Amino acid sequence: MKTSLALIGFMGVGKSAAGKKLAGRLGKRFVEADSWIEQKAGKSISWIFREEGEIGFREIEIEVIKEIASSENQVIACGGGVVLNQINIDRLRRNALIVWLTAAAEVILRRTSLDEERPLLKGKREESDILAMIKQREPFYERAADIRIDTSDIDLESVVEKILDEVKRNADFSP
Ligand code: S3P
Repeated sequence: MKTSLALIGFMGVGKSAAGKKLAGRLGKRFVEADSWIEQKAGKSISWIFREEGEIGFREIEIEVIKEIASSENQVIACGGGVVLNQINIDRLRRNALIVWLTAAAEVILRRTSLDEERPLLKGKREESDILAMIKQREPFYERAADIRIDTSDIDLESVVEKILDEVKRNADFSP
């Protein structure tokens, strides 16, 4: 039985906001992988990308996911690129059901347009840029996901309800 949920999906789909609420509803611990990465490195995500590059960031991400994934009864908000290294997904899957949140490119652009904290979105101000990145990532999310939820047209409360509905019906999950 899986006692945790891992939320995956592109930047700006609402993994952290939904994760916090879900954890409250399920009485489980909320864990945000990016915050752990910043704590472990003692640096911000932007600093790590700038000084160590994406490869340096992914190395820390792999270590942090390994630590997080070994515990039970958590709702984990993963960084959008966690799926790029299959080892992360293999580790998360042991204790967690993997929930993929999606949103239309236009919605993601709107939600992230004022954001300066996401290095991979720097200078990406066109819907076509976001769409291209989503297309590239999609097969990775698809392969990792146990459950997929579209968040484009619904508010946060409804996203949480939808996830709860789906995961509670899943025979592998212990709420
Ligand atoms: C990334 C997403 C970010 C963060 C880093 C890289 C990605 O997390 O981990 O900037 O590769 O998609 P959020 O999805 O929480 O923005």
